[in-house]
Amino acid sequence: GKVTYVGVDGSRTTVEVAEGENVMRGALYNAIDGIIGECGGGLACATCHCYVDDSWADRVGTPASREEDELLAAASAPRRATSRLSCQIVMDPAIDGLIVHLPETQY
Ligand code: FES
Repeated sequence: GKVTYVGVDGSRTTVEVAEGENVMRGALYNAIDGIIGECGGGLACATCHCYVDDSWADRVGTPASREEDELLAAASAPRRATSRLSCQIVMDPAIDGLIVHLPETQY
């Protein structure tokens, strides 16, 4: 499915992310700045922090697990209601067209 990454400068990049793949890897594979993914998706770093667009918040706006919720508290950029760890958002047809916003910093 398609995922659009919106940079802090408002630039938008839309890429194809395979079903079953996560939104952190989608950024890395397409050389999108702003997602680091230091731990490789292991729920151990919070450098894959992103903000789900308001229009998608109902579908993917809440942390998938307590571990994700706790790590988000340690993210460098301010946490918002729509904060997610992008490695925990797995592509499936229901979220085709997803829009995420990149935070100002991951460190
Ligand atoms: Fe480390 Fe997502 S890549 S928690």
